[in-house]
Amino acid sequence: MSTTIPAESPTLSVELTAHPVDAAERARLLENPGFGALYGEHMVRIDYVAGEGWGRSLLQPYAPIQLEPATAVFHYAQAMFEGLKAYRLADGGVATFRPEANAARMNRSGQRLAMPALPPERFIEAIDALVIADAEWVPGGDGQSLYLRPLMFATEPMLQVRPSKTFTFFVIDSPSGAYFKGGVRPVTVWVSEDYTRAAPGGTGYAKVGGNYAASLAAQLEAEQAGCDGVIWLDAVERQVIEEMGGMNLFFVFGEGDDITLVTPELTGTLLPGVTRDSILQLGRDFGFRVEERRITMDEWRSGNADGSISEAFACGTAAVITPVGHVKSRTDDFRIRGGAFGPVASRLRETLLGIQHGTAPDPHGWLHRVV
Ligand code: COI
Repeated sequence: MSTTIPAESPTLSVELTAHPVDAAERARLLENPGFGALYGEHMVRIDYVAGEGWGRSLLQPYAPIQLEPATAVFHYAQAMFEGLKAYRLADGGVATFRPEANAARMNRSGQRLAMPALPPERFIEAIDALVIADAEWVPGGDGQSLYLRPLMFATEPMLQVRPSKTFTFFVIDSPSGAYFKGGVRPVTVWVSEDYTRAAPGGTGYAKVGGNYAASLAAQLEAEQAGCDGVIWLDAVERQVIEEMGGMNLFFVFGEGDDITLVTPELTGTLLPGVTRDSILQLGRDFGFRVEERRITMDEWRSGNADGSISEAFACGTAAVITPVGHVKSRTDDFRIRGGAFGPVASRLRETLLGIQHGTAPDPHGWLHRVV
């Protein structure tokens, strides 16, 4: 594959790296990239000034940035991010998946944090340009992709608690494999009884760094208990299941041809995942009943014990679909399907990955071809 140079536009300037990584070194790095530990060679930057709006998009070599210690984001966390992936297609091309959904969600997150909206066409132009410039960094191995991380933060140096007058948007990329250590396998989860992730009226539905910072003490507790991730319960009753770590959850009721997919309803405290939305649609396509509703720990525990709930899985861009095999808390300890990958999670995962890699039909027009 030869390098393609993204076309400049009235809103995009292009400066490629002067020292590209050679092909042999790139192949070595891409062999086992891990998740979010290796970065591509470019980034896109767009600066915003209140009263002037967004400046030009600059595609430039990936490099450190300088900020004053007084910069607002370091103090009051006016910052948000997105996550999507570019996939190597069966014909050698590259596509992203529903990028317009991420553009829309970023603007909803921004509204919650008093940050400016970025026009969706500028968001998609930035991502396309980065993917074209770093196309050789899109790995083609099983479960691999180029993870794309758009982010926006307050850049005004000031210590007053008020919205910043300046912001910077970046998109960076990261060739990645499986999210969880040990590859794709059923995970063990810890139901957090002491901590909650989000409360009504808060920022739970927004993809903001503060939600993730506030999750880390519970994540440590989960790891100390030998678990991979945290199950979050609602902040009011401490009974209703909301999310797993940074991912949405699904419960499979029934078996064989009689399947109901249940996922916690979007109450404002949950992240509206693009993968969640895609799974709801695939479930309908498969002829499953699909329900977005309240589901409690009591219902999960008893449904697992009497066999009415046959599977549970988490979903997100990073880890796609990951079955939950074992549930633990101070009072609970139960296994699901003996800890094995279930048939509904497998079928949804294969279909979704098939669409994303161009090997399965894409009836909803979700793929956005870039190369
Ligand atoms: C995802 O599932 O893609 C996430 O949002 C997790 C990410 C924060 C690594």
